Amino acid sequence: MKIIIYFFSALIVGMAYSAPDVTALAKGKDLYNGAGSCIACHMANGEGQPGSVPPLAGSDWLENSERTIAIVLRGMAGPVKVNGDRYYSAMPPQLLFDDEKIADMITYVNHAWGNKGAAVTADQVGKARKALPQAVYTPETLLKAFPFDKKLGRKNGTYTPDFDDTLMVTTEPVVYRTFMPGASPAAFAVALPGNHYYCWDAGECRLRYAWTKGGFIRGNQVHWSSNGKPVAKFNGLPYYRARSSKLSPEDYGHLAETARQKPFYDTTEAVDFPIKIEGVDAPPKYKGYRLIQGYPEFIYKIGDYEIRELIRTSKDNLGITRKFLVSPKVPITFKLTPDESSGYSSSAGKISNDGTLKLTAKQAMEFDLTIIEKNPDISAATQIQGSKK
Ligand code: HEC
Repeated sequence: MKIIIYFFSALIVGMAYSAPDVTALAKGKDLYNGAGSCIACHMANGEGQPGSVPPLAGSDWLENSERTIAIVLRGMAGPVKVNGDRYYSAMPPQLLFDDEKIADMITYVNHAWGNKGAAVTADQVGKARKALPQAVYTPETLLKAFPFDKKLGRKNGTYTPDFDDTLMVTTEPVVYRTFMPGASPAAFAVALPGNHYYCWDAGECRLRYAWTKGGFIRGNQVHWSSNGKPVAKFNGLPYYRARSSKLSPEDYGHLAETARQKPFYDTTEAVDFPIKIEGVDAPPKYKGYRLIQGYPEFIYKIGDYEIRELIRTSKDNLGITRKFLVSPKVPITFKLTPDESSGYSSSAGKISNDGTLKLTAKQAMEFDLTIIEKNPDISAATQIQGSKK
């Protein structure tokens, strides 16, 4: 009987559904509940978390498994309405699972908690993995590609967020390319687990600033528009700001200004790139980035030298650690911008009071630079001061 019903619904919807077999369901359940899997955000009961993570139990988004596959493979970020409730957060693409595992998990979700959806096959997931565009969806772009079934009479799965909708708690890295204050138009805004946020400027190949208080950039999505006006906004001041010839420290007071309408910084005139290689005068050239477990690794070149920079939350959670790889081997000088609101340390060499770090060719091959927020609430003993060998 079951088989006939599934066969019938496959005919109606026009997709190759198969009845979920018991092993697939059991495997899917185990995978769903595995460490760091769907359960971490959507919870064991599928109820999600109020305001940030939408429910899977009874979700009105699950009607179309192709759409669910797209969400799991590419991720989704931005304001979303599920069962009439508003959620604002980001789901990173689930990169650690092969086609069969994803198929089993979605099959489980489609049948758990009273859900009555379809079984999904590894073949469906494999095809989508090849065919889908390589970008994180927003609820809007996703619904354009996979619209709600008209017959179900649902109006909308998105909403325009209020000004104060802000991502406050980050458990996985969130990467946005958007227009950021005080940066060139080619900026990245990244939220790290532990609630550290930074702006990395691809136009200039450098970390521009890092902040932690007040949450990530605001939910108000006007800054996604393509003309660079207006820029994203955030609360609170950066604890780290990069050295720049054009920007005096006071200018950063404006970074948090909520009424700013356009970027004010012309990056073409920045002449003080923080990494110096003797005998090389060429300006840095951005080569792209790749994601390593969701964290962007930025790749750029100075002359013939390639630099890779990967930024994560520091071990003690007080700031960020920037891992640098320089090749081929060459000595470098790194200029940090000393600031009363931040403390610095390096895994190699010694940082002088003016923020200069000189590294031998061997040291420069791979080193970590940690920048932490100096927080009056934290005892001095736990703060990283100066440098350690
Ligand atoms: C790191 C947290 C996280 C993990 C892990 C995660 N999700 Fe999500 N998921 C979210 C968030 C947040 C959204 C809403 C995204 C937005 O606001 O645009 C979402 C949205 C969804 C949606 C669409 C909305 C809904 O509630 O129906 C589906 C379907 C979904 N996730 C399925 C899964 C499945 C299946 C897995 C495991 C393979 C998974 N998610 C893993 C956080 C997560």
